[in-house]
Amino acid sequence: MQELTKLKDELKKINAEYAGIKDVPAEKRGEFGRVLNEKKNAILAKIAEAEEALNDAAVEPIDITAPCGPNEKLPNVYSTFEGSSHPLMAELDRVTSIYQMMGFDVVESRQLDDEFHMFDSLNFAKEHPARDGYDTFRTEEGLIPPAHTSTMQHRVLKMYKHNLDEGKDIAVVVPGRVYRNEDVDATHEHTFYQCEGVYVSKTCTMGDMLGILREFFEKYYEQKLNIRTQPGYFPFTEPSLEFMIEKPKSLGGKKGDFLEMLGCGMIHPNVLKMAGIDPTEYHGFAWGGGIDRLVMLRYGLKDVRNFEAGNLNFLKEF
Ligand code: DAH
Repeated sequence: MQELTKLKDELKKINAEYAGIKDVPAEKRGEFGRVLNEKKNAILAKIAEAEEALNDAAVEPIDITAPCGPNEKLPNVYSTFEGSSHPLMAELDRVTSIYQMMGFDVVESRQLDDEFHMFDSLNFAKEHPARDGYDTFRTEEGLIPPAHTSTMQHRVLKMYKHNLDEGKDIAVVVPGRVYRNEDVDATHEHTFYQCEGVYVSKTCTMGDMLGILREFFEKYYEQKLNIRTQPGYFPFTEPSLEFMIEKPKSLGGKKGDFLEMLGCGMIHPNVLKMAGIDPTEYHGFAWGGGIDRLVMLRYGLKDVRNFEAGNLNFLKEF
């Protein structure tokens, strides 16, 4: 740095010397200028060299192939052990992999949607009180951070309608982040994750749906499970069910300890119709449930708020 300052001072002096040309006899001016130019160019070259050296020094070369881990202190190198997937993201991957193994496509949900996809396309009648059941947020422009992944049903049906035309079924799951205007406590978060499932074919039945759901939960919890359903209500399914599993002993459950895992049902004919699918020819079923709840049961977690709190002590346990 000092070297560079000195060179720049020298350059200033040389530039000042050019003013002296007026005192030089005319016949010697050419020679005078030539010598000065030479000096100036030499200094400029040295300045460029010094600047380059300075830049190189600022980026200390590191050996990216050097081994690094929690016990090896390599300055400027972040160990790959410093970060990891968020437990919800890791579990979401597991969830979608299980569905993929079962033959489902995966489509991601979005984080801003509209009135049509949130309500109208799902057969919520205008002014129907069921709309109030989803206490959502709204942007000033009237857009909606989705309160459930069902907002994707209409899009998925339209996007995959060609499957039906080609004689194939529609089988898609939609993981996504959802938002509700909740009072936050140990079991309620304003931001959480859901996974939606949509299946349409000529012959599918409620029995197929229960088979798929049982298969999924048994794969996820890696054991046989007792399941149960009870009637539910959703405008977009008819009939609608709540799907429950008996909390496994290995996860601290007692006999008869049933937990509601998701909502499901046969897709309402109006929902199929709105997506251009003839409900007299095709049937479908759909389901949607929280990922956070699934993961909490798997790991025996008690407080859902940990997922969004950015608490490193919690995150490092995974
Ligand atoms: N979207 C519903 C909720 O968040 C859950 C649900 C119920 C999804 C029935 C479905 C369904 O696809 O068919 O409360």
